Amino acid sequence: MQAIAEQNATTVQNLLTAFEGESNAHAKYLAFAVKADADGWLGAASLFRAAGRAEQIHAANHARVIKQLGGEAKCTIHRVEVNTTLENLKTALAGEQYEVATMYPGFLAEAEERKNTAAIRTFKGALEAEKTHARLYGEAIALLAGDKKDSWIATTRTFYVCPVCGYTSETEKEHERCPVCNCPWERFESIR
Ligand SMILES: [Fe+2]
Ligand SMILES: [Fe+2]
Repeated sequence: MQAIAEQNATTVQNLLTAFEGESNAHAKYLAFAVKADADGWLGAASLFRAAGRAEQIHAANHARVIKQLGGEAKCTIHRVEVNTTLENLKTALAGEQYEVATMYPGFLAEAEERKNTAAIRTFKGALEAEKTHARLYGEAIALLAGDKKDSWIATTRTFYVCPVCGYTSETEKEHERCPVCNCPWERFESIR
């Protein structure tokens, strides 16, 4: 295995932290989706699956850069604590908010300082997707807390996920191309 160059040590450490976060978010959201389906909050289950797929794409992108920089993408997957769907949505929102407000901006600043374009690209892609996830989880929490059984939260719903950067949309064709990475919209995955 190639060694990690000293000037990349912090970037690799940040990528590993993000890789662990995304890998665990993926596992967590899939478990939350099962619970949401069982509770009849089918739209929330769809959202968990779509966001989970996005986190899996982020983890794979981070892993690729870790390897490019001579590191090894390994992490621990923790046991998922599944609560009520409302609690699970709040847990998911808190995670997304932390990533949007703190984790990714910090990691991005470090990668920019190092002019590491691969790390910048993977952190930026994740940051943009997490903003949408936070918005959608916030919407879901309001609907579920209001017991809005006549809204999307109670019906299986299709979300559209960019296979390259994980950008997540609730609109079948929002743009011609992914607004974050320019991937053609035809390649987006439908997740329900
Ligand atoms: Fe996310
Ligand atoms: Fe994209």
